[in-house]
Amino acid sequence: MGTMNSESDDDRQDSFRALLRSLRMWDTTLPPFDPASAPADPLPLFQQWLREAAAAGSPEPHTMNLATADAGGRPSVRTLMLHDADERGWHFATHRTSRKGRELAARPEAALSFYWPAVGRQVRIRGTVTAAGPAESRADLAKRSTGALAAALVGHQSETLPSYEELERASDAAGERAAREPAAPADSWTLYVLRAEEAEFFQGDARRRHVRLVYRRTAEGAWVTELLWP
Ligand SMILES: Cc1cc2nc3c(=O)[nH]c(=O)nc-3n(C[C@H](O)[C@H](O)[C@H](O)COP(=O)(O)O)c2cc1C
Repeated sequence: MGTMNSESDDDRQDSFRALLRSLRMWDTTLPPFDPASAPADPLPLFQQWLREAAAAGSPEPHTMNLATADAGGRPSVRTLMLHDADERGWHFATHRTSRKGRELAARPEAALSFYWPAVGRQVRIRGTVTAAGPAESRADLAKRSTGALAAALVGHQSETLPSYEELERASDAAGERAAREPAAPADSWTLYVLRAEEAEFFQGDARRRHVRLVYRRTAEGAWVTELLWP
């Protein structure tokens, strides 16, 4: 590979940039959001926004980005499924031995973000993360599908995979075990709960007068809110 781009590389780059500029956002009427009528606590607003995103047809509104950092402060982010959001916090599950699991063990702080294009809304949450014990983690997995159990039984998440055939073999074995033994232990599979310290609700606006409402938890445990410039 030389350092000079061939003409076709340049063409490809040009058409890629043209594509980026041609893509549209919020080609729809966005819902209003009046922060003055927002609840005192972010949880009911989050639940309302997720319901409204689902009703508006936002695909997979229960998926979110989870950002963690390693001991040196280097960030990493990935998509996860939200399992619940209640007074304890935002629940998700993964392998304790994965990269994110190791990062959370070293530094139990994380951030979540949700984006629901159908309603032009984003939610960002930041807080401390607690790992649930084995019984609660297994109970959470039990509420999910046999496929989810099989995937959890495969294990080794974020380790180097020597070949795809190896995954196929492990996945077949895990699928058979999950079908045969619905209570099979999935040792590293762990439920985590993020307790929000800060939650921001962003409502996109066609005139770019986006509303940003941020909730911050005080030392006394109450919530204070303020607006932010977009
Ligand atoms: C839509 C979607 C949902 C996902 N849900 C989960 C999940 O709930 N738990 C999980 O461990 N990985 C989930 N993944 C895979 C993660 O994004 C990631 O690849 C994996 O957890 C390894 O991350 P890590 O190496 O940073 O630990 C999901 C991926 C996608 C695209």
